[in-house]
Amino acid sequence: MFQSDLLAGKVIVITGGGTGLGKSMALRFAELGAKLVLTSRRQEVIDEAKAEIEAAGGEALAVTCDVRDFPQVEAMMEAAVEHFGRVDCLVNNAAGNFLCPSEKLSPNAFASVLGIVLQGSFHCALAFGHHVIARGGKESGGGNVISITTTYATHGSAYVLPSACAKSGVLTMTKSLAVEWAKYGIRVNAIAPGPFPTEGAWAKLMPPGMDELLSPDKIPARRFGEHHELANLAAYLLADGSAYLTGREITIDGGESLMAGEFNSLTLMDPAAVEQIMELMRAGGKK
Ligand code: HXC
Ligand code: NAP
Repeated sequence: MFQSDLLAGKVIVITGGGTGLGKSMALRFAELGAKLVLTSRRQEVIDEAKAEIEAAGGEALAVTCDVRDFPQVEAMMEAAVEHFGRVDCLVNNAAGNFLCPSEKLSPNAFASVLGIVLQGSFHCALAFGHHVIARGGKESGGGNVISITTTYATHGSAYVLPSACAKSGVLTMTKSLAVEWAKYGIRVNAIAPGPFPTEGAWAKLMPPGMDELLSPDKIPARRFGEHHELANLAAYLLADGSAYLTGREITIDGGESLMAGEFNSLTLMDPAAVEQIMELMRAGGKK
């Protein structure tokens, strides 16, 4: 889909880069020539992703960090700059989430998810912004931030209140920083995925025996997203060719979030049956 050197030489920090979508993006960016800084709380998962990148001929650094703790984020960013000389891009991908009736949430449960998703994304953006500004901003190549949100950042969602609040905060941060930091040559965008199967998301969000909750049958494309599709969208946003695109959230969900359209549920039925009903209604209307 892209020239093989699309991201050549770019140094990209990915939070949560050792699992799921973060790891898939990291592997794809490395394939396109980028140098990766993988960070999360567990050393073993980021070490494993680093080894996979290196086995394929790429370069990576694995640094543990809890994004809730700003001094740890600063230390991670310093380690990245010391190792690779600079950082060009940040992908805010780390997240925490679980299903819980809102009236049963403890204040600490709410704070825990907000801490990872909203404060964590801010901490990383702040440390990255400090680095880009210190190395000369626009004149030194600027910077590029992507945050992974969700479609319910806009629509809200039952049973995931902390995540919904945090992700909409990240979306607002995206739009705000895109305007404020344009003067430093920093672009800031977001990607809102629909369901993309990962161990992490399915363990937290797919109740056993309730497969219809996150079902491909409710998606116009009639399937879940594939990791390479999201990774390619992220690569496009990080590439120099999309330089005029900033402050936007791009949805990648096979059309799922548009299903609220009044008559869209008819598309989920057997097309022949739907046509028959419509013909009968038309004939009835003639009388
Ligand atoms: C209610 C819960 C809970 C649950 C934890 N808590 N799990 N409350 N229901 N299922 C409460 C705890 O009781 C505690 O509050 C507080 O949350 C903090 O919990 P800890 O376990 O101490 O926190 P910590 O170890 O820091 O773990 C953070 C976490 C955990 C968010 C709770 O789930 C985590 O580490 N998640 C990372 C991976 C992840 O979630 N991946 C999925 C992302 S998928 P008290 O009051 O008891 O102290 C995603 C997809 C979105 O975002 C869209 C899909 C379509
Ligand atoms: P995942 O594998 O569980 O990813 C979450 C990552 O965040 C893990 O690597 C985890 O690593 C890291 N993390 C959690 N808390 C952290 C902390 N305090 N500090 C640093 N890192 C932390 O789930 P995923 O499905 O790939 O999700 C990736 C992103 O896509 C998330 O932003 C999620 O909200 C978003 N998303 C996913 C879907 C989907 O269908 N999969 C849909 C919409 C949006 P450690 O545990 O090692 O810290």
